[in-house]
Amino acid sequence: MAAKCQKYFDQERESFATTVVRRMKGQRPIPGFPPRAQIQTRTACNGRCAFCPNTSVGSHLSPGTMDWDLFRKIADELCSQEMDEIHVFLMNEPLMDKELPEKIRYIAERKQRCTKTKINTNGSLLTREMAERLIDSGLDKINVSFHGVRPEVYEFNMGNLKFQPILRNVLRLKEMLEAKKGKKPGLRITMVKTKDIVAEQEEIKAFWAQHDIGCNIRPLGNRNNKSVEMQGINWEKWRPYTWCRRLFTQIYVLYNGDCVLCCCDWNRTTILGNLRHSSIEEVWNGPAYKRARDLFLHHGMKGLLCETCLYTR
Ligand SMILES: C[S@@+](CC[C@H](N)C(=O)[O-])C[C@H]1O[C@@H](n2cnc3c(N)ncnc32)[C@H](O)[C@@H]1O
Ligand code: SF4
Ligand code: SF4
Repeated sequence: MAAKCQKYFDQERESFATTVVRRMKGQRPIPGFPPRAQIQTRTACNGRCAFCPNTSVGSHLSPGTMDWDLFRKIADELCSQEMDEIHVFLMNEPLMDKELPEKIRYIAERKQRCTKTKINTNGSLLTREMAERLIDSGLDKINVSFHGVRPEVYEFNMGNLKFQPILRNVLRLKEMLEAKKGKKPGLRITMVKTKDIVAEQEEIKAFWAQHDIGCNIRPLGNRNNKSVEMQGINWEKWRPYTWCRRLFTQIYVLYNGDCVLCCCDWNRTTILGNLRHSSIEEVWNGPAYKRARDLFLHHGMKGLLCETCLYTR
């Protein structure tokens, strides 16, 4: 299967002339530092969403929390560069880390002005106290994953999480944000495009508009997980994810400093380096990343996790 990611090219493989041609076509060389990063400050999620690998693989993974020394090292490197976004979560529920607001503050106080910090959360642990601490942390964006506005659809999609209390958490956060003067995070609702979500799309948009909260419906992926595919929740046929840009734009760091392929590598199959002893630049430009990008761009993704990655738009 041929990869179609035409946006990025490997400058080291190209002659000067082809580089010029590619740039004229709007293509870009692979950046020397990742424009985005996702950091897992601790493992685990209390959710059991129908479409998420956490539900089948979560409990088999070795647990852990990123220690402050490692966190500071990674954050300092990220803050020294102009980036698009730093996501302070990865394949987990970020609010299970009780020190998350302090970690966000550490980044917010040091990052370059153009870099935005973001979390996605299922909202179940968004108590008044946690909401206050997040609002005061300097966080730029908070996305609450809220899959459905009918309780039965929400609870089917999100397994053990309950519609009413989590809706109350979201609406309280909204009120607190409205009352807050000065810098505060932007709030959005996010969900994945399953059959049920497509069926109630208009209702969903109207529901969140009535609360003056923006919402996104994002494509569903199989996240390289058969159990996600077997749910039968995809609204259209699965397609190979050949246009993915993740290997060129984003670094994914686990709690122990290991850099995995992407946010679909729940089983930690592809470790591209470790940030405890190497710098972000060394890992991002190192042999394991180069090999993975080469397999993706020039060898039909053969031997990469990407071979089994499917998507519905
Ligand atoms: C893995 S979760 C981690 C953060 C947090 N637990 C949450 O749910 O927001 C990050 C995002 O991935 C999305 N997600 C989970 N499974 C997905 C899938 N199969 N396809 C696309 N997005 C998915 C979730 O909706 C969520 O917004
Ligand atoms: S989508 Fe988020 S809340 Fe749901 S199981 Fe996955 S990690 Fe947990
Ligand atoms: S497995 Fe590969 S194709 Fe799929 S999201 Fe990750 S990097 Fe992209």
